[in-house]
Amino acid sequence: MALREIVFLPEPVLRRKAKPVTKFDKELQTLIDDMIETMREAPGVGLAAPQVNISQQLAVIEYDEDEDEEENEDAPPKPKKLYVIINPEIIKTSEEKVMGIEGCLSIPGLQGEVERHESIQVKALNRHGSPVKLKVDGWMARIFQHEIDHLNGVLFTDRATRVWKPREDEDEVPLD
Ligand code: NI
Repeated sequence: MALREIVFLPEPVLRRKAKPVTKFDKELQTLIDDMIETMREAPGVGLAAPQVNISQQLAVIEYDEDEDEEENEDAPPKPKKLYVIINPEIIKTSEEKVMGIEGCLSIPGLQGEVERHESIQVKALNRHGSPVKLKVDGWMARIFQHEIDHLNGVLFTDRATRVWKPREDEDEVPLD
């Protein structure tokens, strides 16, 4: 495995609609493993292939949902959930929308307030090319929507109601 270089705005690949993945070969498996390693190293909670300069419909997501619930501090830690989504499509969205603060590994030094669906259903392929259907909510749903936007050349700053440079003492937001 190897770390990949994360690209930043205004790199054009970030604005392109990524191409569907058609070959589930060894090269793809290496790319997926490299992206997982790169996401963990960043550290980030998600990474889309265009962010490592590859215009393909692929993203990795890893987020510890326990972080949502501070009252569970005494519970034994659950393993983080890791998702690999390929050619994803949002097939259902909740009517309920929620505001949250986002940042992006490809737009360092900016945060923004973004409205997202509270829960979504996604149709995708897993790393072996098998179809999967996923239902996610809360922060996980936010990360999924952020990553799927990346695959369409859309960035959180396009959707944000306001964008700012965080002060040094401001809480850090998870990046993806
Ligand atoms: Ni991002």
